[in-house]
Amino acid sequence: MTATVYTGIAELSTLDDELGRLHDAALVVEDGRVAWLGARGSAPDADARVDLGDRAVLPGWVDTHSHLVFAGDRAAEFEARMAGRAYEAGGIGVTVAATRAASELELERGAARLRAEAARQGTTFLETKTGYGLDLATEERSARIAAGIADTVTFLGAHVVPAGIDRRDYLDLVTGPMLAAVRPHVQWIDVFCERGAFDVEESREVLLAGRAAGLGLRVHAAQLGPGGGVALAVELGAASADHCNFLSDTDIDALAGGSTVATLLPACDLSTRMPLAPARALLDAGATIALATNCNPGSSYTTSMAFCVATAVLQQGLSVDEAVLAATRGAARAVGRETGPDAVGSIRVGGRADFQLLDAPSLVHLAYRPGVPLTVATWRAGAREPGAPGVAAEGRA
Ligand code: NIG
Repeated sequence: MTATVYTGIAELSTLDDELGRLHDAALVVEDGRVAWLGARGSAPDADARVDLGDRAVLPGWVDTHSHLVFAGDRAAEFEARMAGRAYEAGGIGVTVAATRAASELELERGAARLRAEAARQGTTFLETKTGYGLDLATEERSARIAAGIADTVTFLGAHVVPAGIDRRDYLDLVTGPMLAAVRPHVQWIDVFCERGAFDVEESREVLLAGRAAGLGLRVHAAQLGPGGGVALAVELGAASADHCNFLSDTDIDALAGGSTVATLLPACDLSTRMPLAPARALLDAGATIALATNCNPGSSYTTSMAFCVATAVLQQGLSVDEAVLAATRGAARAVGRETGPDAVGSIRVGGRADFQLLDAPSLVHLAYRPGVPLTVATWRAGAREPGAPGVAAEGRA
């Protein structure tokens, strides 16, 4: 057992029970868990000592919405969108064709590259989804690859009905043999409940089949227009309703009164030129929100949680503390990991040592210096993630 004491922490944001920030703090990590935290002057002895150079430490990001198993790129579609074309669910088919044609190695390498990119930027817990296979073999392959790179995996066979199959037959496939094939690799089921994808009754059928197979529920809801997805998510006690761009007052009240987290995806909103989700109204009503990247090649090709945090502060009316909380502990709630021995999204004694170091004296700089890659090192379960070449982790370069 080796214990390491980290000192030189100008500001330690634990995001545990209180949002308080400790100044001139220290952190002791032993066996991948936080063994002690407090004022530097009272830090206990340890086997190793690392000076972090008077910089800020906060929990690693918890990114609960991504689609990392895919092939190809849709830069041309993005460019056309920035020239005025609308985003449509139909673009998913382009990535489905590329993903089906790709080799397993190509898909694995692509997903692992994005996972590593996210880790370098402070993400210590990541969810990812299937949903670009949409036939049994490719969904099974995608789920298996996802399980190899992500902390938790969601089955999104109900992304859209692919070309060449009857709608009813596809629903039977998703809720029957496809679900059975992916089941060993996934913990969640999701459905794109939206015009152009699946209606509310179809979505209910998919979610109930997943629940019967022992999966937790998530819903893509109200991304492109108003609809019944949020109400369905709350009614079924889904862990999360994701997107939430077009919410009625009733939707906001339902989220505030239920257990479903509203997972907001600001990078996607900007990249599809949709109205930003009503983060302020949700918080004011008492709902729990999470922030996630929605990294995918169609609507949001970024792994940067810091970009989402900065956008939520600068454009969605959140304070820095509220945005960081949504990207850590709020997100942990959206994957059922806010409490218990496997909790993530906070720094607490006994908890998993997932934390990131900013090249800044305070987490306020995440929004104060938008677009600057401030995360210079990430630790997951106490182990340093490989950094970007040439970036100094401990102390100043
Ligand atoms: O969450 N909304 C559905 N799925 C993805 C987009 C997928 C795509 O356009 O390729 C999303 O935005």
